[in-house]
Amino acid sequence: MDKNKIKKEYNQKIQNLVKLNKHYYDLSKPLVNDNEYDQIKAEILSLEKQYNFLKSENSPSKVVGFKPSKTFKKVFHRVPMLSLSNAFDEEDLVNFEKKINNFLDQKSSNVLEYSAEPKIDGISASLIYKKGKFIMGLSRGDGKAGEDITENLMTINDIPKNISIKNFPDEIDIRGEVFIQNKDFEKNLKDKFANPRNAASGSLRQKNPQDTKKIPLKFIAYTFGYVDKIEIKNQSDYLNQLSKWGFKTNPFNNKIKGIKNLMKNYHEIEKKRNEIDFDIDGIVYKVNSFDLQKRLGNVANSPRWAIAHKFSANKGISKILNIEIQLGRTGALTPVAKIKPINIGGVVVSNATLHNEDEIIRKDIRIGDIVIVERAGDVIPHIIEVDLKKRNRNSQKYIFPLNCPSCGAKTIKEYNSITKKKDAVRRCSSEGYECDRMTVEKIKHFVSKEAFNIDGFGKKIVENFWKLKMIRLPQDIFGLNYEKIKTMDGWGLQSVANLKYAIEEKKNISFEKFIYALGIRHIGFENAKLIAKTLKSPENFINLSKENKIDDLLNIDGIGETQITSLKKFFLNKTNLKVIQDLQKILKIQKTIENKKDGVFGDKIFMFTGKLTGMSRAEAKSLIEKNSGTIISNVSKKLDYLIIGEKPTKRKVEAAKELKIKIIDQLELHKLLNKSS
Ligand code: IVH
Repeated sequence: MDKNKIKKEYNQKIQNLVKLNKHYYDLSKPLVNDNEYDQIKAEILSLEKQYNFLKSENSPSKVVGFKPSKTFKKVFHRVPMLSLSNAFDEEDLVNFEKKINNFLDQKSSNVLEYSAEPKIDGISASLIYKKGKFIMGLSRGDGKAGEDITENLMTINDIPKNISIKNFPDEIDIRGEVFIQNKDFEKNLKDKFANPRNAASGSLRQKNPQDTKKIPLKFIAYTFGYVDKIEIKNQSDYLNQLSKWGFKTNPFNNKIKGIKNLMKNYHEIEKKRNEIDFDIDGIVYKVNSFDLQKRLGNVANSPRWAIAHKFSANKGISKILNIEIQLGRTGALTPVAKIKPINIGGVVVSNATLHNEDEIIRKDIRIGDIVIVERAGDVIPHIIEVDLKKRNRNSQKYIFPLNCPSCGAKTIKEYNSITKKKDAVRRCSSEGYECDRMTVEKIKHFVSKEAFNIDGFGKKIVENFWKLKMIRLPQDIFGLNYEKIKTMDGWGLQSVANLKYAIEEKKNISFEKFIYALGIRHIGFENAKLIAKTLKSPENFINLSKENKIDDLLNIDGIGETQITSLKKFFLNKTNLKVIQDLQKILKIQKTIENKKDGVFGDKIFMFTGKLTGMSRAEAKSLIEKNSGTIISNVSKKLDYLIIGEKPTKRKVEAAKELKIKIIDQLELHKLLNKSS
């Protein structure tokens, strides 16, 4: 179909929608029923997704009415606002508990006590109180810094402004969820927002607090961030205390022991879900004891001691129109089903992931099949099963491409030495930049948030500049022809100036981000950080291969054979070397600056051998790291202490003795630690 035809079809649909809206909202005389209306909306959204040149002010993808403002001040959270990992079934919960018990070095049969709290689908907020007075309120933002939305939060009746109860801490930030009740959403807001959550978010971010005040926002409290002193020992007591202080808490919170009982509670609440007048999308389980929470700590972005058990997803029936293969930056071929757009729980779904080749074979998924599609929370929709009765007799098995759809190279399934099986994923066998699609994806990764994070340089621009042959390798980003861009569709003097500024600004980059941005397989952000911390300067990184030093990285706790093999492969490739060399000339890569080491273990290096008692390796490791120590996994001159537990490896102890390294046991480790507190 040509562009004009598509535009015409799209505009007709938009005009139709405008007419329907007018009849529905202004004249209160709907011309079609809700289902038909949703279908029309879905068609428009699907067209927009397919063709990025389609745009309209009247598109249902644009929020009507309440335009959120972007003028709030950013404020850092004193304690970051974390997110939660998800569980979908009993097995996930069993694993969650197992991991906790492992970390605490407790028997896996140990039954833990949890606070089980229905997870309200709203917007989280952090309320800072000083001497009983509500002084500032922040949105979550990116978890590290939020927006100062104090004025708007002040308008919420559920939020106490002054608390004069004796045991209320002098300083505390109380956290919870801002939301809208379904009945209020239905009454006043459903014309303007897709769902209650969007409505809460939009209302909370109004520029004028008077606009927020008009919306009946509610607040339920469930945790705290910073607190100067608190006597409370566990989460359920804290929840009780919150009500005594005047906060609303969730009436369906429960204290529960053991997974079986968690499941029972889950099913009971899921049944009640329709009766409750606010949206909940699962149950949050938190290890009840604050002591244990403290010991467990966090992994990356979420606590080890909590998990969100999502309610079973919304399902819908649709037809597979096509199966497309998407290529990732590491060459993985991901099949995606293009399905007839359907509305599942308020969201229009037109794509469903098919995961990998094995999944297609296992479920025998074919083009033309009628399928059940599931969408759970923010996870990509997937296909649960094929309705075989509705299968067309002429349908044919889907054949997975044996050659890369982009570069034509053979596709392969790698052997995984850990699982001792072939991978479920098929990959393009080209090395990185030899395959066009992989290159585009690599460049997208290069500019992405955790990597170079170039403002305004998103995936669409990468695609566009690639098509126009303006970029072929990451370094081309820094040599763009801005004069040419100025003449291009959609660009103006200001936007080009902004782009230039954003790119120039990122020439100054941290070493760890630089390594991560290269997109080396198996080197994610955490590994990039470890490597940067060890190598310290970009020169050392570039010299890794020249000096045959890649194997030395095995010494880093966290880097294993998989990473080493991948790094070796990376450095063998000439284009990769050229990318690094060119970038090094253009960029100012900062050397790694050691964090100020104020813990007792500042700059001390530790290693373990043998089994510890009462705590797992993981816990001991996190304890040492909390006190600014470093762990390595091989005896070397650098080592300061070898910590020995039960049945240590003789070879390691002897090597340490030879190098005159201090050998200590767990008791001595704790003594060293106690000096710190
Ligand atoms: S605790 C580290 N408790 O879920 C603890 N969160 O994915 C994180 N949420 O951003 C917060 N109900 O918006 C917690 N009872 C509850 C919750 C809850 C809803 C939301 C909250 C948070 C998200 C985490």
